[in-house]
Amino acid sequence: MRVFDTHAHLLDEAFDEDRFELIGSLPEKGITCVMEACCDEKGIDRVIDLVARVPFFYGSAGVHPHSADEWNNGTADHIRNALKQEKMLAVGEIGLDYHYDFSPRDIQKKVLDEQLSIAGELGVPVILHDREAHGDMMDLLRAHKNGLKGIMHCFSGSYEIARECLDLGLYIAFGGALTFKNAVRPIEVVQKLPSDRLLIETDCPYMTPVPYRGKRNDPSFILLTLKKMAEVREEDEEELAEKLYRNALDVYGIPKDR
Ligand code: NI
Repeated sequence: MRVFDTHAHLLDEAFDEDRFELIGSLPEKGITCVMEACCDEKGIDRVIDLVARVPFFYGSAGVHPHSADEWNNGTADHIRNALKQEKMLAVGEIGLDYHYDFSPRDIQKKVLDEQLSIAGELGVPVILHDREAHGDMMDLLRAHKNGLKGIMHCFSGSYEIARECLDLGLYIAFGGALTFKNAVRPIEVVQKLPSDRLLIETDCPYMTPVPYRGKRNDPSFILLTLKKMAEVREEDEEELAEKLYRNALDVYGIPKDR
């Protein structure tokens, strides 16, 4: 079995003590591909460096809504140049977060709009973060729908919202929250979605699945989310893993023989 963790943050300080030891242990556990999601401008060069060091890692470049107010005159070109590098495949993670509101909402919207334009111009996928900002998020995505591709990450919305995302050409990724006791709505959505648009991810070090909630998450815990997804969809775990893997190759534009 091979599993693709489509959204992880191994550069987080939570991994400072054992980063490369942990990364080295992943392939034997079946985690054979990982997308390292960038969070802010100073992370861009660190992601480039990481994916150059680790053959089974890919990277994104982008500014998270939490850091939107750090956007400056050079940021757009920094992202464009990063995406010229081999294995740098997506603009992300980008979006809107009206739960924490760490950056003013008008700036969050402007920075998302600009990054959607960059992705469109370069023809690369986006990795989207939407927390309590659904109306504005969908408005911006609709404005950029020509050529839009990418992932709605850590999905927790309703089936109706998921359908809108599918209509815009997006894939939908689920993480550890699927295993939580109160995960009634995400389970319902996972059951109804077509298998060719589903993805799994960890968002590690956050969103640790049951029974390890409260501990640091890492890509190997994705197997618990996979198990849960297979269970609720009544599918064979290995077959589902393979489908999800191919979906990940598709959305990130990675050659099929990888
Ligand atoms: Ni993330």
